[in-house]
Amino acid sequence: MPLTSYEEIASYATMIGYVTKVGYMPPWRASSKAHALKGENILSKEELQSIQQWIKDGFPQGDPKTLPPAPLTQAGEEMSAPDLVVSMTEAFEQYGVYYDQYRVFVLPIHLPEDRMVSAIEFVPGKNSIVRGALLSVDTGEEVMPLDEWDPQYGYFSFGEIGFVPDESRWYSWQPGKGKSEFPEGQGLYLPKDAKLLLHLHYGPTGVPEKDSSHINLQFSKSAQTQQQFTLPLVHPYSMTNDSFYLPAGETTRYHASFTVPFDLELHGLFPHSHLLGKHWELFTVSADRSASQSLLKIEDWDFNWKQQYEFEAPLMLKQGTTIHALAAYDNTSENLLNPSDPPRSMNWGKRMFEEMFLVYFSLVKHQAKEQKQYSFSLLPGAVNAKKTTPLVLRFQNQKRQSFTCRVKDFSGKVQMDLFDQKEFKKGEHQILVDLQDLEWGNYYLELQAKDQIDRHLFVLLAADLFD
Ligand code: HEM
Repeated sequence: MPLTSYEEIASYATMIGYVTKVGYMPPWRASSKAHALKGENILSKEELQSIQQWIKDGFPQGDPKTLPPAPLTQAGEEMSAPDLVVSMTEAFEQYGVYYDQYRVFVLPIHLPEDRMVSAIEFVPGKNSIVRGALLSVDTGEEVMPLDEWDPQYGYFSFGEIGFVPDESRWYSWQPGKGKSEFPEGQGLYLPKDAKLLLHLHYGPTGVPEKDSSHINLQFSKSAQTQQQFTLPLVHPYSMTNDSFYLPAGETTRYHASFTVPFDLELHGLFPHSHLLGKHWELFTVSADRSASQSLLKIEDWDFNWKQQYEFEAPLMLKQGTTIHALAAYDNTSENLLNPSDPPRSMNWGKRMFEEMFLVYFSLVKHQAKEQKQYSFSLLPGAVNAKKTTPLVLRFQNQKRQSFTCRVKDFSGKVQMDLFDQKEFKKGEHQILVDLQDLEWGNYYLELQAKDQIDRHLFVLLAADLFD
């Protein structure tokens, strides 16, 4: 319903008083105040009090002369000169059924070379029905059968892409979020032959509505752009208690933790569970266990308001810091959102009645300013590794020198020795790293020369986590 004039607002006055008092509106689920988050939809105590006072006073109209201009129903685009616009090739019709719909649209892009994205803007085609967007980047072919199987434009997938793409979560958008610019020298990696996978959440509507959304991209001009990754570092393989199972009629709590393997800048967090999820809490403990800080707390998890929480200023996490994640699930009939009636024991799964325990971390490796003897990257730029596809390690050295290369887990334990003090000629080198024998989990690949040590994260997730 529109809330754009005195008459419209006054007719909802008592309801506005109620929804703001109980915290249902404006929608904002993060309750910890430890770090300022971008786009906080919060009313101050004073604002809440003045709404209540206004209702007590019989909701009088203010001075019409001070009335601000009416808000735009369809906000304009912020990016005036994008380098690339990636659009849905057809309009999708949300066919006017009173329930939410989730679809993935495959948007191929054809770039002459790999690029780093310095700014991005998702532009909903139809504001009134587009409730959220998740973007992933993929260079594989796994998505094609999913797309072909669904006769309509795009394919159905609840809350996720439906498999683990190269970059399982590249960018996310929720209503109200405008253009995102990455800090100077940072950006998102976009391989030249990638497909953008656009997961859209359409809200309920009583009449058929058409949407054709698009994405504006600006590319970095600098060759020295560092990649910002969004990785699911909290998942069932970083859990510390039991296996993921939610017995019918019970509430259950799960805990996961891992140790940060090198200094990081943490830019954002995206917790993910479905309709049984009730509570999320993320916090850190310093390496010497003397200090702890809250990262994010959601006391009243609501799947419909799932979103990426971005810190106003990135948090520096030192090597050795432990990150803890706690999530609570309510699989009783007290949980009015429980999709099973009577409750059914539930396992991991991406379907609506199943459950998940994931937290995506958006991060950038903290880069020391010292002179580099070599540069090192993992290809594809993405770091969601697969057992079926070897990791591609590339490095370039200015002079003949010896290197040691290892795969370590997040506790620092060596899991694979690739080479030890092996001499390489000056130039560019490419090595394939076979991950077949590695257990699922969080790892980093470490390349070490005499005075330089460099590390890259990757996550090995079982495909069936998303199938
Ligand atoms: C009058 C009682 C209200 C009701 C019943 C209500 C209900 C809702 C619902 C159902 C949505 C989701 C819309 C969708 O899925 O597309 C929503 C979105 C939202 N509401 Fe309210 N709301 C009310 C008042 C308010 C007030 C007073 C505020 C601000 C102080 C507010 C701020 C928002 C915001 C920021 C969003 C998300 C933005 C968006 O989806 O575009 N609402 N509201």
